[in-house]
Formats: sequence, structure tokens, C-alpha cells
Amino acid sequence: MTAYFNGRFMEKDEIRISPDDRGFLFSDSLYEVIRYYPGLLFRPEAHIRRLNHGADHLRLACRNFSHLIPVARDLIRKNHLADQDALVYIQVTRGTAPRNHAFPDPAPKTTVYMCVSCFDPAVKDRQRKTGIHAITVPDIRWARCDMKTTGLTANVLASQQAAEKKAGEAIFVRDGVLMEGTHANFMAVFGNTVTTAPLSNYILGGITRETVLDLCRELNIRTSQEPVYENRIHLASELMITGTTTEITPIVTLNTKPVGNGAPGPVAKALQAAFSSKIKQMQKQDPWFSPMKKGENSLNHSENP
Ligand SMILES: Cc1ncc(COP(=O)(O)O)c(C=O)c1O
Repeated sequence: MTAYFNGRFMEKDEIRISPDDRGFLFSDSLYEVIRYYPGLLFRPEAHIRRLNHGADHLRLACRNFSHLIPVARDLIRKNHLADQDALVYIQVTRGTAPRNHAFPDPAPKTTVYMCVSCFDPAVKDRQRKTGIHAITVPDIRWARCDMKTTGLTANVLASQQAAEKKAGEAIFVRDGVLMEGTHANFMAVFGNTVTTAPLSNYILGGITRETVLDLCRELNIRTSQEPVYENRIHLASELMITGTTTEITPIVTLNTKPVGNGAPGPVAKALQAAFSSKIKQMQKQDPWFSPMKKGENSLNHSENP
């Protein structure tokens, strides 16, 4: 597999990251996962905006990663994935320096790593049809969940708890409020209203969440961004998670209790259909996948010129 590392395309197996890299030592590091549908890189600008937001707050040496969008496209081409479903992974770290908690001075070069992988949508497709079981877990994460840092220990532990209970996702509960999943946002349907936690430092501003809220408006489904309380959750007719790989996946049981009638509900189904149509429409419209023009080079800009 061809990957990208600090301004160069390289064989993934040949990339060497220093043990002094702060991503390794401190999780002083951000990441993004972008979905690629055949012919369509899904909303890369939104992913880069979120990455830049994190880089700004972490005060990385590089705070604008828009040059990585053509690199992502190049990686898909170079790995012959243009006709397939794939995922683009981006990770950036503060860089390499002798271990010391405070920022190194002078600031090291930002480490930038990108790779692509095939994505087999079959399992997720099945889960979207049947729905998943979910559990709730206490939200033991830190108070800057709006940044997509690689410090994911709490998410890993919660995900494992879910797996051990044969559940597909764990929903974090903070102060009696269902916030989001380990790798997806969370939505509940009360009456005819899709309700989801408001954007704050306690959740990640999901790109799928934003797309789904837009689709609700297009479908004349009312939305509300307000806390979803654990003690009212039995009143919800539907629950769902939204994310880059999960898209819109209904939750059919929460802590083993059936949600609604225990099957995917009409709102989730309508949103899934609208999401699929949107992807098809965007695949037709996305102009970028034309072959590279002569002289065009995605490496013209770099994070550490
Ligand atoms: C904690 C968390 N919340 C929400 C999401 C969903 O975000 P997106 O729709 O941008 O994939 C993710 C995605 O990885 C996540 O890790």
C-alpha cells in the first residue's frame, strides 16, 4: 500500500515513526477518517475544517491541512481504489522531540501520516438493516471531546464493554445525559422530533450528524439539539447512531430493553433512504475524479515547507 508521510508518498511498510514522536508518547495528536464511496470523497472539506480546529486548539506548528485533500485523492488513485469503497485515515502529531510534557521549543515539525484502506460495507449495511444493540456506560472521557484526538482509551474500554455484551455500540452518559457513542453521534426520536445533544466540548461535531440534521430539514422532520436525558429515554420511539462508517444505524435495544417495537423505525429508514440518495447524487456530481492533469501534483504544498 502506498501511504503518505511527512510530504512524501511511500510504501506503508517502510514508514518509520520515531519513539520520541509525541503522538506515540502523549497522544499529542489528532486524526480523521474520511469515507470514500466509488467516485466520491465524502465532505473532505468538513473533515479538514475539524482537523484544523483541533490543530488550532493544540497549537500545532501546522494548523491548516487543506493541502491533504488532493493527497487523499492521489492515495486513492495510487492504490487503485477509485472504483471501490475505501477509508482515508489522517493522523497528525505535534512532532518528535525529547520527552517533556510542555511544548518543545522550538516547535518540531508536525508529523503527518495518511493511508487508505479498502472498506467492505457489508457488515455495516447489515447492521443498518437490522439495527444494533447498544449499552450505556459512564462518560469517563476528558472535557475536550470536540477535538478528534487519538487519546481514545475511554472509547476503547467502552467499545470492549459493548463487544463483551454482544452490543454494537456503547453510549456515553454524562450527568444523566446520553452524549454520543464511542465512534458515532447519538440521536433519539421523541414524537416526530429527532433530538441530539447540542454541540459542545463534550461531544465530537460529527460530519454525519450535520448531514443528517440537514436531511431532516429537507424531509420536514423536526430537529432539536438539546440534552437527551437517561430518565426519559423510555419515551423515545427510535434511537440511532450516526457516523462516517455507520452512516445512520438504528439502535433496537438499549441495555437489553427494546427501543419502540424493537425494530428499525420509520424515521431511521427515511433518513437512511435520503442519505443513500444524497450519496448517489453527489457521486454523479463530484467532478474531482477526472484523471490527473499533466503537471498536476498533490505534493506542491506541504505541512512543513
Ligand atoms: C466520539 C465520536 N463521535 C462522533 C463521531 C462521528 O463523527 P463523523 O460523523 O464525523 O464520523 C465519531 C467518529 O469517529 C467519534 O469518534
